[in-house]
Amino acid sequence: MSELLTIQALAAGYGGAQVLSDISLNLEAGKSLAVLGRNGAGKTTLLDSIIGVTTYMSGSIHVSGRDITSLSPENRAASGIGWVPQERNIFRSLSVEENLTVTARRGEWTLQRVYAFFPRLEERRRNMGDALSGGEQQMLAIGRALMLNPRLLLLDEPLEGLAPVIADEVMAGLGRLVSGGLSMIVVEQKARKILPLTDYACVIDRGRMAWSGDSASLLQEDGLLDRLMALS
Ligand SMILES: Nc1ncnc2c1ncn2[C@@H]1O[C@H](COP(=O)(O)OP(=O)(O)OP(=O)(O)O)[C@@H](O)[C@H]1O
Ligand SMILES: [Mg+2]
Repeated sequence: MSELLTIQALAAGYGGAQVLSDISLNLEAGKSLAVLGRNGAGKTTLLDSIIGVTTYMSGSIHVSGRDITSLSPENRAASGIGWVPQERNIFRSLSVEENLTVTARRGEWTLQRVYAFFPRLEERRRNMGDALSGGEQQMLAIGRALMLNPRLLLLDEPLEGLAPVIADEVMAGLGRLVSGGLSMIVVEQKARKILPLTDYACVIDRGRMAWSGDSASLLQEDGLLDRLMALS
């Protein structure tokens, strides 16, 4: 299996403040990784470092064997890293359809395919971004990222603030993406919801890698998840 993402001994932060220390991880193409950890542990900082908006301090990030450590965020996006931020960041004054098409890149994900994937978005295609519910905004943010046809999709707490029934709908969508072979990193606080979906998991605590391994073993080993999530 070919390595898609390799992070080695990464240290990074914001301005002069270091948040992440000695972070290493690997992800093979077609696999999915859950990033777990408490509030403020450094999960978003890890995704920010992959997309290139943190202060780089040391270590390296390779995507498909290419060192992207010194690439700009634009060039990282162009190299196939798609991102759904924690705050969703949809264009509120554009319609659903404009949101989907404005940054799209050619590939297997087309407007038709995204509408087939999230039929709610097609129903709301002419609505403005700010007229959508939280769940619809999340589907739109995911749909827009898919329209970039990424080789690696990063999602930051996609279930945050969603009503349970909508969260389940978004989860089902993520499950279909994982089984379709899209490589994905999902930051999530709701560990027991996301772990059944992902191949691998890691737990970050105070900016360091506290655990990494198979999602299944993290779920199955008695008390392990609770111990890890209670760190600090
Ligand atoms: N833009 C920023 N400038 C300076 N420090 C920041 C910035 N963003 C985050 N931090 C700090 O970095 C640390 C890690 O924050 P991060 O947002 O990565 O945590 P998180 O694990 O994503 O938390 P949450 O679950 O609450 O989203 C925190 O101490 C936070 O205060
Ligand atoms: Mg965060």
